[in-house]
Amino acid sequence: MRILVIGGAGYIGSHVARAFLDRGYAVTVFDNFQTGLRENLFHDAAFVYGDIMRPEQLREAMREGFDGCVHLAALKAAGQSMLKPELYAESNISGTINILNQATAAGISRLIFSSSAAVYGSPQYLPIDENHPKEPENFYGFTKLEIERILDWYDRLKGMRYAAIRYFNAAGYDVRGRIKGLELNPENLLPIVMEAAAGIRPKLSIFGDDYPTRDGSCIRDYVHVSDLAEAHVTAFEYLLQHDRSLTVNLGSQTGVSVFEMVDRARAITGREVPADISGRRAGDPSELVASSAKARELLGWVPKYSDVDTLISSTWKMYEKFVTI
Ligand code: UFG
Repeated sequence: MRILVIGGAGYIGSHVARAFLDRGYAVTVFDNFQTGLRENLFHDAAFVYGDIMRPEQLREAMREGFDGCVHLAALKAAGQSMLKPELYAESNISGTINILNQATAAGISRLIFSSSAAVYGSPQYLPIDENHPKEPENFYGFTKLEIERILDWYDRLKGMRYAAIRYFNAAGYDVRGRIKGLELNPENLLPIVMEAAAGIRPKLSIFGDDYPTRDGSCIRDYVHVSDLAEAHVTAFEYLLQHDRSLTVNLGSQTGVSVFEMVDRARAITGREVPADISGRRAGDPSELVASSAKARELLGWVPKYSDVDTLISSTWKMYEKFVTI
């Protein structure tokens, strides 16, 4: 089976490419290195340099023929999307339409799409299941929801079977150390904690300690990127077997607070992790936890690496080499 992984040199994309390779698929990575990294390419995967905003480059890449395509090439900074919505409209929405049009023209009828918990907005109940109201509170989340709706129409009108996978908080690195590239300018909690632990940044700012949670800091559902990656393979197999599209949450179903993450990081790394409490960050809900019952039921998906200690230790392996003192 041949799979085209668009955005396969990125943080999640490289883990997804690795997961398909591990299961014996022939993988081609398509990436323009806007945020992806050359060092994330694998010797046992083919590579095509290309940009999803250039339909002719997609057409050329897809000419080889693929059984399916994974689309992870997107902008993902929720805060930035509120300041520069035009970039997100272009890359995320127009870019996906380019992929869909080229894929259907090339006879590719299965697509795995990276969606996000950001489609839900503030939780109205917990854990969040797939039927939870979808009221995104940032433009990034809106683009993901809009794409899901477009996918639904392409399913009906063009026979494109898709799996939309709504990630909660992706974290961690391949426990076997096979991913070489560190995400540049990370904006997410765990890599920032690691940078503070390694001395790359002076300190972590904890965004708020006055939320109505057990310790006052925000609670999130962290899911290991290798568990996410595995779900892409099982979702593709689901599409093969059932010829039916699906939309699923992927989270660990466990809430971890910012303080809990920092405490475990201190224990596991043996480092200080300097931190202070700053004000709340705009748009942060106090608690986000997924129901992943549907993924468990339909895909048989059970996270293996999403416990806090594995999330931290696999990430620390990537950062400890920067420790100087
Ligand atoms: N946090 C800090 N300090 C930091 C960074 C983060 O205290 O320097 C806190 C945030 O306030 C939040 C938690 O750590 O409470 C996690 O923040 P992230 O920025 O790592 O992640 P978010 O929950 O804001 O968002 C992430 C992805 C989104 C996705 C969402 C789904 O970045 O794209 O998870 O749950 F939609």
